[in-house]
Amino acid sequence: MTHPLPIRRIHHVEMIAGNARLTSFFCRKALGLDLVAYRGPETGHPGSCSYALAKGDLRLVITSPLTHEDPRVVFLALHGDSIKDIAFEVEDLDGVCEILESRSATFVQRPRSISDTHGTVRLASIKAFGDTVHTFVARGGYDGPFLPGFEVRKRPGYDSGIFNLDHFTVNVEGRQLDRWVEYYADILGLHPEEKWAGKEVHSDRTALHSQVVTSPDHKVRISLNEPAAASRRSQVQEFLDYHLTAGVQHLALSTLDIVKTVTAMKDSGLEFLPVPEGYYDRVADQVKSCGFERGVLEPLNILVDHDDRGCLLQAWTRPVTDRPTLFLEVIERRGAVTFGGTSFKVLFEAIEHEQARRGNL
Ligand code: FE2
Repeated sequence: MTHPLPIRRIHHVEMIAGNARLTSFFCRKALGLDLVAYRGPETGHPGSCSYALAKGDLRLVITSPLTHEDPRVVFLALHGDSIKDIAFEVEDLDGVCEILESRSATFVQRPRSISDTHGTVRLASIKAFGDTVHTFVARGGYDGPFLPGFEVRKRPGYDSGIFNLDHFTVNVEGRQLDRWVEYYADILGLHPEEKWAGKEVHSDRTALHSQVVTSPDHKVRISLNEPAAASRRSQVQEFLDYHLTAGVQHLALSTLDIVKTVTAMKDSGLEFLPVPEGYYDRVADQVKSCGFERGVLEPLNILVDHDDRGCLLQAWTRPVTDRPTLFLEVIERRGAVTFGGTSFKVLFEAIEHEQARRGNL
C-alpha cells in the first residue's frame, strides 16, 4: 500500500463558470455561503475574476475568464460550468512535490510562490481526471482572506448549517474506473473501500460501477463512477455525453442538522431530487433507529443509511447547471465515517428517473 500523502484537508474547490458574479450570488443566496474575497480587474488582475466563498472549513472559488485568449474559455465551451480544481492543503510543498515526482504524477504547474502584503503561499498542480487538476497549497503563515492577489469582500450568505466539504464524486469514462482508483491509490495514497456496497448498481435498464477511495483520517473521500453495459444509456454516460470528459458529478456539503439545511435550501429555491415511491416504507425501522420521524424526512426527500459505526443522512439536489452535469449533496453524519450503499441505489434510481424526464434514457 502506498503511503498516504500528508494532506491536511481539502483547501478549496474551484469552479469555472460563464458568469462568476451570478454563480457566486447563487452560492450566497441558495447555499448560504459567505463571499469573503475577490480577485479581478479592480484588484490588478485584468484577465479573469474570481469570487472566494466560505462557510466553516468549506471554501469554494468561482472563476470566469474575461478574454478569449484565456484557455479556460475552451474549458467552458467543452464542459459548461464545471469544477476545475480540487485543491489540497499541505505543510511542506516541496516535500510533497518530491513524493509526487517519485510517484510519476504529471505536473501542470511546478512549485511556485505567490505573494502579497499578507505573506507568501507555495502552490503546485498535477493533472487529474479529464481536464481537472489537483493543486497543492502550502499557506505558511499567510493571513490574507484567501490566497495572494485576493482582496477582502464581506458579503454574508445565511446560516444554512453547511460547514465543510464531506466528499466529492467523479464520473469517469467506461472501463476507466480501475485506472482512476489506482491513480488515487498510487499518487495520493488513498485506499479503496473494500466493503463499499455500491460497487455494481443497476436497474432493469441501466447500470454503473463505482468505488470509494479515502484517506486514513477520512478528510479526503472521493467516490468514482463509470458507466456499465445495460440495455439503456447509463446515467454516467449521460453525464459524459454532456461534459465530454470525466469530471466532478457532485459536491457533498456537510451539515450537523440536515433537516435545517435542506429546509433552508428548499426555501431559498433549490430543488431536491424526489425519492422513489415506496422508499420510506422500506426504511421505516432505520428512520426510527437514527432518531428521526418519517414525517420530518419524507417531505424533504432526506434518505437514511448507516455503516458499521453509525447513521448518515443524505439529500441531493437536481442539477445546479443547465447541463445535467453538476449537483449538490447535503450530508449529516451521525457516527458513520464511510457510506452505506442503500441510499446510493436510491440515488441511482432517482437520477435514472430524471434522465428519463430529459429524454436521455
Ligand atoms: Fe455523494
